[in-house]
Amino acid sequence: MRAWPVASIVLAGVVLITIGCVPPPRATGSEDSVGRSNTESTINTLFAPPSPETIPGDLRGEQIRLGYKMVVDTQEYGKRYVGNALNCTNCHLDAGLNPNAASFVGIATLYPQYRERAGRQMTLADRINECFERSMNGKPLPPDSVKLTGIVAYIEWLSQNMPPGVEVPWRGIPRLISTHQPDPLNGRKVFEQKCVFCHGSDGQGTMAAPPVWGPRSYNIGAGMARMTVAASFIKANMPRGWGWTLTDDEAIDAAAYINTQPRPDFPDKIHDWPKGGKPADVPY
Ligand code: HEC
Ligand code: HEC
Repeated sequence: MRAWPVASIVLAGVVLITIGCVPPPRATGSEDSVGRSNTESTINTLFAPPSPETIPGDLRGEQIRLGYKMVVDTQEYGKRYVGNALNCTNCHLDAGLNPNAASFVGIATLYPQYRERAGRQMTLADRINECFERSMNGKPLPPDSVKLTGIVAYIEWLSQNMPPGVEVPWRGIPRLISTHQPDPLNGRKVFEQKCVFCHGSDGQGTMAAPPVWGPRSYNIGAGMARMTVAASFIKANMPRGWGWTLTDDEAIDAAAYINTQPRPDFPDKIHDWPKGGKPADVPY
């Protein structure tokens, strides 16, 4: 059985920290009280992803490993379906194992789920394909493809032993709640001071970090293209390794700045929220 490469993820984080010469990342967990908008029943349970040794040695195990590779190296393993420079793990940090970044742990049992944006029930595979079309600016995978089945298997493996239909408290991104008016001009200053080092002055990414706008970024149909989603992600996770160091206003302004820059369109957006309920910060 192949060694599970989680250690290499941790190492990558350590390398970044060494380059930056700044304090180590905060321990995750405590700031979760910033507030998640959980409306469904939640469960008080520990964030404890299964250990890699529990991956079975059979075909199922192969699927789980393929799913993991799809998530961390989507550029290579999902090439035909990706239309930008991102990997799933760039937002679902640490391969979906980070409780502050739309973790995959414990979410499989919540599907199928009704989604307002689509106006219909969605399976986990459907939800994954939404991120392929929007966050990855690409194409949906065929429903029966081994690659899609692999990602589903990986997320199911991360959700084992979860009671069906019970929402985990770490689901999504810790929601930043503020009355601050987003100020993209100040956001530009924040970006120049705290983001260009890794994302580049033109936002197009560097060796150290992926693009945050432009043709190789997520499209306008992506969740991250919404100001409140990006602000929450940035507050909790950026600069990478130093989450929770920006003020709320800085995170909101930086999000407003990157999300007012050009990025790919999503023509299918005309079908979104067919029954209403579109949030105010959707950029179309
Ligand atoms: C640009 C950032 C970004 C990228 C890249 C991205 N996603 Fe997402 N994804 C999101 C956001 C934001 C959400 C919604 C989180 C929330 O509801 O708070 C989401 C939600 C999801 C969900 C639903 C989570 C839940 O709690 O039900 C799944 C599954 C998912 N993504 C899979 C993927 C996969 C697989 C990939 C790679 C093919 C991917 N995503 C790439 C940003 C991204
Ligand atoms: C120390 C380097 C570094 C700094 C500084 C930094 N980031 Fe990032 N950022 C990253 C890395 C690396 C990723 C991808 C994370 C991964 O794959 O583990 C990322 C991912 C992102 C993403 C989601 C993926 C994408 O490209 O769309 C956004 C949005 C983002 N950063 C915004 C910001 C903002 C805004 C700032 C400034 C407040 C910032 N980052 C500062 C390294 C950095």
